[in-house]
Amino acid sequence: MQERAFDLIIIGAGAAGLMCAGTAAERGQRVLLLDHADRVGKKILISGGGRCNFTNRFATAANYISQNPHFCKSALARFSAHDFIQWVEHTGIPYHERKHGQLFCDRSARDILDMLLAPCQQHDVTIAPQNQITAINKDEQFHVMTTAGEYTAKHLVIATGGASIPKMGATSFGLKIAEQFGLAIVPPRPGLVPFTFTGHEKENLRALAGISLEVEVHCNNHIFREAMLFTHRGLSGPAMLQISSYWQPGDSLTINLLPAINIADLIDEKRHTQLQLATLLGEHLPRRLLHLRLPLSLREQPLAQLNKQQIHETIQRLQVWNLKPNGSEGYRTAEVTVGGVSTAELSSKSMESKRISNLYFIGEVVDVTGQLGGFNFQWAWSSGYAAAVAISE
Ligand code: FDA
Repeated sequence: MQERAFDLIIIGAGAAGLMCAGTAAERGQRVLLLDHADRVGKKILISGGGRCNFTNRFATAANYISQNPHFCKSALARFSAHDFIQWVEHTGIPYHERKHGQLFCDRSARDILDMLLAPCQQHDVTIAPQNQITAINKDEQFHVMTTAGEYTAKHLVIATGGASIPKMGATSFGLKIAEQFGLAIVPPRPGLVPFTFTGHEKENLRALAGISLEVEVHCNNHIFREAMLFTHRGLSGPAMLQISSYWQPGDSLTINLLPAINIADLIDEKRHTQLQLATLLGEHLPRRLLHLRLPLSLREQPLAQLNKQQIHETIQRLQVWNLKPNGSEGYRTAEVTVGGVSTAELSSKSMESKRISNLYFIGEVVDVTGQLGGFNFQWAWSSGYAAAVAISE
């Protein structure tokens, strides 16, 4: 007969759920891992372009967005990027470092999923995909009703992630459970997501689709210097994805298209030549972009004849470009969900609800969102570990 009673039920067999399941099972817990999807760890498999940016060597609390920026510190310290790297190395997974400390698999994200599954298999975690959860009740135990029947356990961990990419099985289930038990929620919104524009602006940007360049983007006191990509719908690339997590509807972005250059000095150096402004700047920016940003009268101006006001206008147009997105591509393409179960409701040491004993929230469902670069997985590993250790004590 199928086992129905467990020490721990985890709902959501993604990054955080798998980490929690393996860690708790290693410590002697009888674990059931439920998921409604047909396969476990789907987001891990598509992450990092199939190579999984599994952590970031420099992960600290400063890389996370949360109403309480200190909340993630304890879990990150108890299971750090260094701890995950050690596990990867011990498993023999080949990996490499890209810029800003981002670590990727050499072969495939499958290596990370297999690594997480190994302790689950070794310590008999019951993994039950394709299970729709229909209700959760609590007395001394949690009772989880599913399409495959009822399961009970003393501890319940919610690891159902954020709402991004619904076609991969993402739902707001975790927030509904939080609401059911009376826990406060920080309103969720898409993060790490491309911007969209309308009307004239959209047409202008569409004409530049395919152009990619390094920019500096500012919004709400945050700055990122990374690549920006013009798309048919608007703006994407790491710089835009990063700033999108700090952007609120109605905000403008300020973009510096030449972050490494002092335009006034550049012009001064070549003033003695016959060059026109467009020829000089064409060495640093794509022509199509220059044509969009500078009027013909300015582009064709010989450097020797540029006056102070025209130099100022050139700087404003290229280095202080204000753009107001009308929105983002939304959860359809967002890498993460910003917001979630309020950290004020949870213990930062164990992820346990302060109101409902033995109920835990881990991973992206919590109001802790990483920047681009492996930080979101690190949060999944750290929070999953914290809950598992607390449950096993
Ligand atoms: P995760 O989404 O991994 O898992 C949630 C699980 O819950 C899923 O298996 C889902 O099926 C299940 N579930 C949902 N609703 C349910 C319900 N109602 N009933 C039962 N089960 C349910 N991060 C990073 O650090 N490096 C990277 O390279 C990338 N790359 C990347 C690419 C793309 C395209 C996306 C969309 C996202 C990334 N991320 C990333 C972000 C990262 O994938 C994400 O933050 C983590 O997977 C979050 O881990 P969780 O376990 O919290 O949720």
